[in-house]
Amino acid sequence: MRNPRIDSEYLGRCCADVYTHPVVTKLLDGIFHPGGLALSNLMAEKMRIDSGSKVLDIACGDGLTATFLAKKFSCHVSGIDAGSSMIDRAITRAQEAGVGYATDFRVGYATNIPFPDAHFDAAYSECAVCTFNDKNHSVQETIRVLRVGGTLGVNDIIIRDFEDLDEELKGILGQVLCIAGALSPDGYITLFEQGGFSLKETSSHTDVLKQMVDKASNRVRMLTALDESFLETASIDDVSRIIRNIKDQIHTGNIGYAMFIFEKSV
Ligand SMILES: C[S@@+](CC[C@H](N)C(=O)[O-])C[C@H]1O[C@@H](n2cnc3c(N)ncnc32)[C@H](O)[C@@H]1O
Repeated sequence: MRNPRIDSEYLGRCCADVYTHPVVTKLLDGIFHPGGLALSNLMAEKMRIDSGSKVLDIACGDGLTATFLAKKFSCHVSGIDAGSSMIDRAITRAQEAGVGYATDFRVGYATNIPFPDAHFDAAYSECAVCTFNDKNHSVQETIRVLRVGGTLGVNDIIIRDFEDLDEELKGILGQVLCIAGALSPDGYITLFEQGGFSLKETSSHTDVLKQMVDKASNRVRMLTALDESFLETASIDDVSRIIRNIKDQIHTGNIGYAMFIFEKSV
């Protein structure tokens, strides 16, 4: 059973707390989605973002992608995230990168996007729809703030069969780790098509997920070797077991990563 009864804004804040935790930040090397900026760049090109685009990053985390896109494509990017400390970091990052004027960040939820109708030319969400509990509501909000003809890019974890997950990954922990709430490729397509989007293209990127998990696995060993207090012994076992479970699921093909490009056609 998935966890639809948890309040989605509360869950969003829990997720933000996990990803701003210093141990998680170190294990992921400060990059909260597989493929890093290379995959973000590919998605932005497919979305045809350019210097005239007004873009929304839904669940922008600490502003890594938003800052990069504002710099590279000279577009304007607004970012919303459930975590206030994520938003503080995003503002600082964009200012330090010299694109404070081309970005704005605010605390906001995917189910209640704080912008007027048809405000954006493009919207994207990276490794985040999988964490949203009320996905239908977030799709309604996304399509509302996009203009007709606007594009939507989604990079996300895919999961082929929820029942094949290890019990530990089926609960809240699995949800904030982007797994329990992930959908199958057809599940994402149906979700967004039923919400009014048309699919333009989709592609598989499981290789970059595998690289990210391998890197996190190596960092558990390296960081604990460098600093014995980095993780308590019990936590090393827990973290290593969870990473091993995820690796197994990738290996069997149950978990992967994919990109979807949609358009708001009417
Ligand atoms: C795995 S991180 C990805 C962050 C960012 N997209 C990136 O790629 O760096 C998931 C993010 O989703 C945010 N989040 C989860 N649920 C949310 C919701 N309902 N509304 C807004 N943000 C949410 C979390 O705070 C967290 O920053």
